[in-house]
Amino acid sequence: MTSISLFFLLLLLSATAAIATLSSDLTALEAIKAAIDPATIPETSCLASWNFTSDPCSSNALPTHFRCGLSCGFENRITGLYFDGAGYSGTISPFISNLTGLLAIYLRDNKFHGPIPTALFSLPNLGTLDVRNNLFSGSIPPVISITKTLLDIDLSNNSLSGSLPPTLSSLSLGALNLSFNQFSGPIPILPPNLEILAIQSNYFSGYLRNRSFGGLIQLKNVDLSRNSLTGPIPGWFFLQPRLERVNLSHNGFTGIEVLKPNKTRLIDVDAGYNKIVGYLSANFMAYPELTSLSLRDNKLQGPILKEFSLKNMMLRNLFLEGNYFNGKPSKDFFSRKSIVSGSFGDNCLKRCPKSSKLCLEPQKPSSICRNVYGGKGNP
Ligand SMILES: *[C@@H]1O[C@H](CO)[C@@H](O)[C@H](O)[C@H]1NC(C)=O
Ligand SMILES: *[C@@H]1O[C@H](CO)[C@@H](O)[C@H](O)[C@H]1NC(C)=O
Ligand SMILES: *[C@@H]1O[C@H](CO)[C@@H](O)[C@H](O)[C@H]1NC(C)=O
Ligand SMILES: *[C@@H]1O[C@H](CO)[C@@H](O)[C@H](O)[C@H]1NC(C)=O
Ligand SMILES: *[C@@H]1O[C@H](CO)[C@@H](O)[C@H](O)[C@H]1NC(C)=O
Ligand SMILES: *[C@@H]1O[C@H](CO)[C@@H](O)[C@H](O)[C@H]1NC(C)=O
Ligand SMILES: *[C@@H]1O[C@H](CO)[C@@H](O)[C@H](O)[C@H]1NC(C)=O
Repeated sequence: MTSISLFFLLLLLSATAAIATLSSDLTALEAIKAAIDPATIPETSCLASWNFTSDPCSSNALPTHFRCGLSCGFENRITGLYFDGAGYSGTISPFISNLTGLLAIYLRDNKFHGPIPTALFSLPNLGTLDVRNNLFSGSIPPVISITKTLLDIDLSNNSLSGSLPPTLSSLSLGALNLSFNQFSGPIPILPPNLEILAIQSNYFSGYLRNRSFGGLIQLKNVDLSRNSLTGPIPGWFFLQPRLERVNLSHNGFTGIEVLKPNKTRLIDVDAGYNKIVGYLSANFMAYPELTSLSLRDNKLQGPILKEFSLKNMMLRNLFLEGNYFNGKPSKDFFSRKSIVSGSFGDNCLKRCPKSSKLCLEPQKPSSICRNVYGGKGNP
């Protein structure tokens, strides 16, 4: 075949292909729109432009029809639902499961309610599910494990509840955001390829268990803040090989173990607002990339180690306020050349010069410090 005739053949193919969306995709789209309260579809929104007198995937559709809200792909299948955050209120039609070409669903910033339909999890090509900032309720069903393709799930800021199903561990997910819901129970065994885990502001409880995190070698970014997690923060947690940013703040942790790593990328640790007792571990010094450390509002005591002021550490932000640290911190923290910022206030320190920004907040009353240190605190 000459390249010219190949060109015409391709032209012919694309022209015929431009005619019609797969009819089962069309009926599914109509069902999806019909499940949304028309009173919540503003005139200028994407969904208002879904006028089925045109064919959504055809180049012959009127320019005002199907302006946005979806994408078409190979063989005129619907490959994406990309809703604008126009405030649509409704449920997700179970017929969405007929859109078997879907790769991505974005329904962010609307008022979808009811359960997340289990039908979604049987979509054979779905990679992304983003329903952030809606009003979905109910729990995550165990059948979530039937999805083999989902890589990115964002269910954050809905009204979802219940404990997470153990079947979660069989997913190949890279990112999971469940923040700002009402999930409870323990953190289950997590999917082994997880890179990003955000579950802040829920009611998760129990210990940090190696069974949940042990197999995750990609984990990079973890936000567990504002839950009801308890027990010590175990040393293996910070040894996870790719770990960069960890937020454990606003829980009920009672201790923190820091082990010397062989290889670490840890940059940022926030373990503030817990009930951590004990001393500042010198082993933090063995994390050469550590730039930011917050242990504020805990029950730590003893000295603020001199080593934390050394310039061979990357440490720039050190938030230690609201503990029972005592003694005289190294002058290096307070020199004009110091690169450490943060806060040392509300402790039992003997030296914390007002001229340093680290010391803006006053120290604790000496009566409290004497109590903690059996009469030997800050006089
Ligand atoms: C969805 O698919 C099922 C079976 O494949 C079919 O019976 C049904 O009519 C379809 N529904 C829509 C809305 O396309
Ligand atoms: C759909 O488009 C047709 C042709 O432009 C128009 O006559 C009709 O009013 C539209 N329907 C809606 C619901 O906007
Ligand atoms: C959660 O969504 C509501 C609207 O549904 C919004 O007002 C609020 O700011 C969102 N919260 C977060 C933390 O994004
Ligand atoms: C998770 O969702 C919350 C709320 O929508 C958002 O503020 C946060 O940035 C998200 N975290 C990640 C890692 O995507
Ligand atoms: C944690 O779990 C991993 C994988 O299951 C295992 O290799 C590792 O030895 C465990 N670590 C501890 C401290 O139990
Ligand atoms: C950790 O989470 C808390 C509450 O969710 C937030 O206020 C704080 O800024 C976070 N810390 C870091 C270092 O991002
Ligand atoms: C670091 O490496 C040494 C020697 O290879 C090994 O014995 C030790 O268990 C390792 N420590 C960690 C925390 O991986």
